[in-house]
Amino acid sequence: MNLDALHKIAVAMAAPGKGILAADESTGTIKKRFDSIDVESTEDNRRDYREMLFRADAAMKEHIAGVILFDETIRQQARDGTPLVKLIEGAGSIPGIKVDNGAKPLAGAPGETVTEGLDGLRGRLKEYYDLGARFAKWRAVIDIGREGDHRIPSPYSIRANTHALARYAALCQEADIVPIVEPEVLMDGDHDIDRCYEVTEYVLRALFSDLYEHRVALEGTVLKPNMVIAGKLSEKQAGVSEVAEKTVKCLRAAVPAALPSIVFLSGGQSDEEATAHLNAMNAEHRDAMPWALSFSYGRALQAAPLKAWSGRTENVPAGQAAFAHRARMNGLASLGDWSDGLEQAA
Ligand code: 13P
Repeated sequence: MNLDALHKIAVAMAAPGKGILAADESTGTIKKRFDSIDVESTEDNRRDYREMLFRADAAMKEHIAGVILFDETIRQQARDGTPLVKLIEGAGSIPGIKVDNGAKPLAGAPGETVTEGLDGLRGRLKEYYDLGARFAKWRAVIDIGREGDHRIPSPYSIRANTHALARYAALCQEADIVPIVEPEVLMDGDHDIDRCYEVTEYVLRALFSDLYEHRVALEGTVLKPNMVIAGKLSEKQAGVSEVAEKTVKCLRAAVPAALPSIVFLSGGQSDEEATAHLNAMNAEHRDAMPWALSFSYGRALQAAPLKAWSGRTENVPAGQAAFAHRARMNGLASLGDWSDGLEQAA
């Protein structure tokens, strides 16, 4: 393990004004996204769509430090035969790879899941390194019980997931790949922001305890957490400042200062909410945080370009413009320099 190299990449992931593009939708998930614009999910269409994003040169160079890819994409070539990985590298961005095999029902815990994919991972990581990946992602999914059901999440499902995250992270570092550890507490339920806080703090404390036991070097690790936010179905939605304040408070309580970079998932927030929340944390709480705080958005970076593109070649410039706009807004938010005025001026 070359910790110096890992540390440099982990720092680069959230360099000032930059964050990560999560373009690692599995075949099932990208189909859902394509269904929403009435485009068939073929291998060529998936390639064309992602090529459009990676060729948005200025946005990539200025605001996208790394791109998370799916297995199919890391092996794919652009229309002109250039490997997509080379397009990303050419724009000065770092290719990464999603390596988990998804959340599967957890035996003995009805309604809960554990993320699978550890078997054979050592060999896959070596292959991905040779294909150009310098960081990886593993997403654990933690749901919060509906109608005040405090049995979910169970400590058992949380531990099963954080244990898998720690084993994955140790294998990544052995292969000189920076692990992004993503324990996502879902915002799908009817819980309020304080219940999200409680669960998120518990999950993060369990995660960092397991990372320690698995001898994972935090200096070469990136955390991808959810924000502390009310469930989508909650009647008590929190304002932007409250989300920012409670998220920073929770992270300060549970995340060691040795970790260089934290990059949020968007998790179903609207584009502008995800930007406004990140901006408020950096604008209002910068001095309280030892880590860089930026974005690793999937939906919040891609919803607009996906719609603008809608599967038509003639819409590629419009799709790239929509992507460039969101990338710039989030880049500004990583500096605490975003404003609603800038958003509307575009
Ligand atoms: P969202 O930003 O759409 O939540 O996706 C980020 C991601 O990579 C989830 O694993």
